[in-house]
Amino acid sequence: MSLNFSFLSRLALVYACFFAILCNAKYDPSDPDVSREIGVRFGPGSSGAFLAQNGMVTSSSFEATMAGLDVLRKGGNAFDAAVVVQFVLTVTEPYASGIGGGLFAVAYDSKEEEVFTLDGRETAPDAAEPDLFVGINGKVDKFSSRIDGGRAAGVPGTLAALAYLLDEYGTISMAEAVEPAARIAETGFIITEPFARNLAAHWRRLSKFPETQKLFSRPGGGPLQAGDICRNPELAATLRLIGREGVSVFYKGPIAQDIVATVNESKENPGAMSMADLADYKPIRREPVVSNYRGYTICGMDMPSSGGASLALMLNMLESQGAAFNGEWTAEQLHTLIDVQNLAFADRNAFMADSDFVSVPTDVLISKSYAQKRIGELKPNQGLSTPVSAGNPYKGVATTNATREESPYTTHFTIVDKNRNILSITSTLEQHFGCGLLVENRGFLLNNEMTDFNAHAKDSDGELTPNAPQGGKRPRSSMSPTIVLRDGKPVLALGSPGGSRIIGVTLNVLLNVFDRELELQEAINAPRVVARNRDPEIESPLYRDQALKESLEGMGYQLIDSQAVGSVQAIRINDSGWLEGAADPRREGLALGY
Ligand code: DON
Repeated sequence: MSLNFSFLSRLALVYACFFAILCNAKYDPSDPDVSREIGVRFGPGSSGAFLAQNGMVTSSSFEATMAGLDVLRKGGNAFDAAVVVQFVLTVTEPYASGIGGGLFAVAYDSKEEEVFTLDGRETAPDAAEPDLFVGINGKVDKFSSRIDGGRAAGVPGTLAALAYLLDEYGTISMAEAVEPAARIAETGFIITEPFARNLAAHWRRLSKFPETQKLFSRPGGGPLQAGDICRNPELAATLRLIGREGVSVFYKGPIAQDIVATVNESKENPGAMSMADLADYKPIRREPVVSNYRGYTICGMDMPSSGGASLALMLNMLESQGAAFNGEWTAEQLHTLIDVQNLAFADRNAFMADSDFVSVPTDVLISKSYAQKRIGELKPNQGLSTPVSAGNPYKGVATTNATREESPYTTHFTIVDKNRNILSITSTLEQHFGCGLLVENRGFLLNNEMTDFNAHAKDSDGELTPNAPQGGKRPRSSMSPTIVLRDGKPVLALGSPGGSRIIGVTLNVLLNVFDRELELQEAINAPRVVARNRDPEIESPLYRDQALKESLEGMGYQLIDSQAVGSVQAIRINDSGWLEGAADPRREGLALGY
């Protein structure tokens, strides 16, 4: 079992009993089947990952993993479990994802033996213009004020995406799917240490949103503390209403009215969302971005996420270098790893955006020949000075290095069922607590995904950048849910939160598995090196390796000591056909299977 905070582990058993009772399931810790699920590592090649034969769920929430596992054990498939997990996350990780946000899913449908993706990204309200974030003084507002209030909220896509997955592939009804989450929202869940820490850190910001503060306040005032119970009866009622009436109640009915009112009457930066914006929302099924690396087939998310194409470009550049990255990291390897990320990031920033609105040269960017050309810019024994310029996948494209800081809050979950259907889903509200607004009387937070557009919409030539805001468009993302195949069969599914660091985080874990051949948990735990066309961020203990550090500094890099980059949730299908589930120790996470 991968359970990553001592506070959580102390609570785990008690909570498991509590949850099992809530779910009306039988829970008997003396039952060897159950005790295996609650924490015994077993099976061939145990690596610290949780091993199971039938099904596996890994998520960043104890309750969500438990609820997903319960679905699988009762015969539901991975699609059912994913929908249930996302509803529970709306309750227990309300600051990171939820029905007020958006998601990307990469899925393996075992019946058709195909990978498909689902784009449940938020859309800009029709009224959005490129100057969305320009204040009355004619200047682009500071980041700290862009993130708050209705203006930053996109039309939520998560619920529509869940409904698609359930309608097309699920075996349970929407009413059944919402019930575990509704029950937890009603009876309450225990605030974990990380939740409490995050809440305290954002308390001042949340004072601008009294309804939100109230939901997360202790009875006597002040933020909920670790060990407190958080209840959200309004959210329980909202979920059950969706269960009874279907998602049209959210996109066309009374919940839509409340979303519009909340966004447009926001005291902070009111927005301009209409009922038509919500009614028109559609999740989009897309082909995955597919690339090959040393015999593996990597299936990722296409635009409007830059994740899949950026990863493909990075892996292609690395492959064209020849040697695999095995053994301990050397300074030369890290030099390559850093600059490959920098080069790909320059291209991401310049060219990648919603391809339904702007032309994106994805085919060129993910081609082996382009990667070969691009890696030619690497200098032996010398770091590239950042920002590096974008490449030229076709002539006449305006380039810009405009990028921005993305917050580290989002969530990823991965599920495999007994038929080997797979869901790899990254889901977000963008910033912690999204735009801060709790939808009136409905108990869920709204995203601030519009801040993923370029706030500085034009480049230095006055041309609109590809990722400029526009009505109906989806902001560029970095989310990189991924499924890896070998010989046509799925072998690994993973993803991470972490804003624009997600791409580098995913690359690190993939290389640790593909090249360094680490066990899954080790591949996740290993210190990461992330570069985003700026100074590279290096996790300790790698950062503290004096010899490596000096070599890299000798190449001209200014290293940043970085901590806890990303939170990977992954499942591997090993050579014996067993499932290995691993959660990232950097944040909360729990992998369980049966
Ligand atoms: O779509 C994106 O790339 C960002 N809005 C995701 C934000 C994020 O990952 C924050 N996370 N930890």
